[in-house]
Amino acid sequence: MRDEAAALISWYDRHARVMPWRCPPHSGARPDPYRIWLSEVMLQQTTVAAVRAYFLRFTERWPTVTALAQAQDAAVMAEWAGLGYYARARNLLKCARAVAQDHAGQFPQSYEGLLTLPGIGPYTAAAVAAIAFDQPATVVDGNVERVMARLFNVQTPLPQAKPELTALASSLTPTDRPGDYAQAVMDLGATICTPRNPACGLCPLRPFCAAQAAGTQADLPRKSPKPEKPTRQGTLWLARHPDGRWLVEQRGPKGLLGGMLGFPGTGWDKSTGAPPVIANWQDMGKVRHTFTHFHADMTVLAATTEAPPDHGMFQAINPDDLPTLMRKAYDLASSTLLPR
Ligand code: ADE
Repeated sequence: MRDEAAALISWYDRHARVMPWRCPPHSGARPDPYRIWLSEVMLQQTTVAAVRAYFLRFTERWPTVTALAQAQDAAVMAEWAGLGYYARARNLLKCARAVAQDHAGQFPQSYEGLLTLPGIGPYTAAAVAAIAFDQPATVVDGNVERVMARLFNVQTPLPQAKPELTALASSLTPTDRPGDYAQAVMDLGATICTPRNPACGLCPLRPFCAAQAAGTQADLPRKSPKPEKPTRQGTLWLARHPDGRWLVEQRGPKGLLGGMLGFPGTGWDKSTGAPPVIANWQDMGKVRHTFTHFHADMTVLAATTEAPPDHGMFQAINPDDLPTLMRKAYDLASSTLLPR
């Protein structure tokens, strides 16, 4: 094992963060592949702190991959609400069903085997192979890229530097305890080798770090300028029935917020639309939400009406089940025009 990897693992033995899906180093326990897979899919878009509560709710409700495979789509989408990137939740279900049906409820143990599952790409396959099955797969996320860029003082900007950083990460991956090693690099990136003000004084890799020697750590990894996100203007119509139900629709399975519950709207997602129901619409102001490729700047119109809707239906809703854009619009409309 290279000295860098040994130093990292020894640091991890003392400082591993506690997470509900983890087994502490030297505990002798092997983690549950289902819980590792689920946590890694959730962690791709959200911080550890935010994922915790989602993870605990999911695993309480669906303790095994077989249980998740049998869940209703809408129930899973509702539990996912607020995490964003809803295609991930749909792929999560596809993957659970493939494991249940094609693999007798057992995740494949190799990187290659995991890659054959729907919705599992190189990152998730490597993370599950390493962490759940202790295979020497190289896990590369943003934390790992930053650690490698600094350790080897790589000046190439991201995203061009990705292959180089992956090769460097791979050159460090040990065959002994690769699972703990993978988690150690990610923990180091999250807690010590942070994007801003890295705590070099506490870093177990300091003796090996080329950026530290050159004084370049604050500038790394370099990044190519990103094109700015465009802003799309749109409208959301929030109609409330006098009995307290709201006019909502289940969005189609594909595209933005696919499979999620939402208010009828137009202008932001290629739909062209008229108000879903005849009503005395009042302007509540705007909500803003940022998606992967654009900002949505939405005018919220709200009304109370009993008129039969053109599309969608009046339904009792739990605002926690709404994706964040819809939740913001709900909060605006329900707090101003239509107090409970
Ligand atoms: N970020 C994503 N996956 C992680 C893990 N397994 N440990 C620490 N940080 C992570």
